[in-house]
Amino acid sequence: MAEFYTVARVGEIPEGEGRSFPIEGRMVAVFLLDGEYSAIDDICSHMGASLASGNVENGAVYCPWHAWRFCVKEGTWLDNPKSAIGQKCFEVRVVGEEIQVAVPVE
Ligand code: FES
Repeated sequence: MAEFYTVARVGEIPEGEGRSFPIEGRMVAVFLLDGEYSAIDDICSHMGASLASGNVENGAVYCPWHAWRFCVKEGTWLDNPKSAIGQKCFEVRVVGEEIQVAVPVE
């Protein structure tokens, strides 16, 4: 089961960038790309950098430490898409002015 959490208001995440937010004990990176929000785990699968601070190009975020590329919508590791390595992705919705992310609750 997942629950939605409000992380920011519309306008607080600039187009083409990401921001990280703590939700229920994890860090989630929320991106705004072409007017659509998406969310993936913020902590890079490689060595733990914050992906939200990476550059975003063509739907991919470049990890700021070693430049591994992840899809901002699905979390796929784009340098090796067949690999099991990747970032979890989360559902995002906008309710009024609030950006909300669904994360699993136990
Ligand atoms: S920590 Fe992200 S690529 Fe190394």
